[in-house]
Amino acid sequence: MTFSRRVGRLPTYPMAELPAIKRRLIEQGVDVIDVGAGDADFPPPDVAVQAVTRALQDPAMSRYAFQLGLPAFREAAAAYMRRRFGVSVDPFKELHPLLGSKEGIAHMGTALLNPGDVAIVPVPGYAVYQGGTILADAEPFLYNLTPRTDFLLELDEIPADVLQRAKLVYLNYPNNPTAAVAPREYLRRVVAACRKHDLVLAYDNPYCEITFDGYVAPSIFEIPGAMDVAVEFHSLSKSFCMTGWRLGWAVGRPDRIAALARVKNYVDTGAFLAVQTAGAEVLKDAERIAAGYAAQFKARRDAILPALRANGFEVETPRATLYVWVPLPEGLASAAFQKRALEDVGVVTLPGSAFGAGAEGFFRIALTVPTPRLIEATERLGKVLATV
Ligand SMILES: Cc1ncc(COP(=O)(O)O)c(C=O)c1O
Repeated sequence: MTFSRRVGRLPTYPMAELPAIKRRLIEQGVDVIDVGAGDADFPPPDVAVQAVTRALQDPAMSRYAFQLGLPAFREAAAAYMRRRFGVSVDPFKELHPLLGSKEGIAHMGTALLNPGDVAIVPVPGYAVYQGGTILADAEPFLYNLTPRTDFLLELDEIPADVLQRAKLVYLNYPNNPTAAVAPREYLRRVVAACRKHDLVLAYDNPYCEITFDGYVAPSIFEIPGAMDVAVEFHSLSKSFCMTGWRLGWAVGRPDRIAALARVKNYVDTGAFLAVQTAGAEVLKDAERIAAGYAAQFKARRDAILPALRANGFEVETPRATLYVWVPLPEGLASAAFQKRALEDVGVVTLPGSAFGAGAEGFFRIALTVPTPRLIEATERLGKVLATV
C-alpha cells in the first residue's frame, strides 16, 4: 500500500504519541503530572453547559448546520469583534464558523495555496501551519522565533526569492509556545510588508483573552489596512476552556471567507448546532467569562514562576497565554530532557524539538493543572535538571 506524497511529507504531530505513553505510565502506577497539551482542567462556562443542555431538547439542533451554521452564533461573534476590538464585520460575509480554529487554519491553506507556493511558518509554532501548507501541496518556509527578535517573525529577514514565491504567512500572538506578545508597531510593519509582497496574513488569535498585568491583546483588524491582507482565526477553546467543544470562527474579506467556505463545503457540514448555541451565549458575555479564566491562569503563572526559578530554570515572566517557555542550559537537548522528565519523574512536558529543530533549547509547560501540582511538577523537573 502506498500513501500520498502529502502524507509522507507531514512531520510527526508533536503530541501524537503522548496520550499512549501517559497511559502506559499510569498503568505502571506512576503519578503522572501532565503539563504537555494546552488543555486546561477548568470546567467550561456554566452558561455554555446550560445552553447546550437546553439545545439538546430541540430536535432542530440535531440537524445539519451546513456552512451557514447558527445565525445567532455568527451574530454573537461579530458583536464580540465590534465590542472588544472595535472591528465591524458582516456576520454572514466576513465571518465564518469553524469546527475549532485548527480546522479553519488547515483549510485556509487549501483555499489559498497552489503547488509550488510558499507559506512562511514560524518555528516553534502551531503544527497546523506546516501541516495545512503540506496538505495543500505547497512548501513551508520555516522562520525560527528566538529571543533575538523577541520571538517576532521579521518578514524583512526572509530571502527575496522566498518572498517572491510566498503567498501566505502565519502569525500567532499572543504566541504558543513562547508566550510572546506583538507590539502594535510590529503589527503595522507586518501589515505593510504583507501588502508590499502580496502576502495573505493568517493571524491566529486563540489566546487574545488570556493576558495579564494590564496587557490587552489586539485583533489584527485594529491595524489600519489589515482587512486587505489578513484572515484572523478565533477560538472558544482556550479563552473559554471549551477545547473539546470544537468551535471557533474566521474573519476576513468576503472573497477569502467565501473561498474557505467553498473548501469546507466538501469536508464538513458545520459545527453541532447545539454547540453553536452555547458559543453564542458565551460570546454575549465573553469579556467577563474570559477574565475569570485569565485570573485563574495568572494565579498559576504567579505561583510557578518563583518555583521554576528556585529550581534552576531562568524564565521570563509571560504576559499572556497558558504557557511558560522555559530555556534549558546550553547544550542540553530538549528531547533528552523531556524523556528524563517523563520516564524518571512522570512529568509530561513538550520539548522545543517537537516544534522543529529551530525551537531547540526550550521546553513548554502548560498551566493546565492546579497550582500544587504545578509546583510539584516544577520540583520534579528541578531534580532532573540537577542531574543532567
Ligand atoms: C496557536 C494555536 N492556534 C490554534 C489552536 C487550535 O485551537 P482549536 O482548534 O481548539 O480552536 C491552538 C491549539 O492548541 C493553538 O495553540
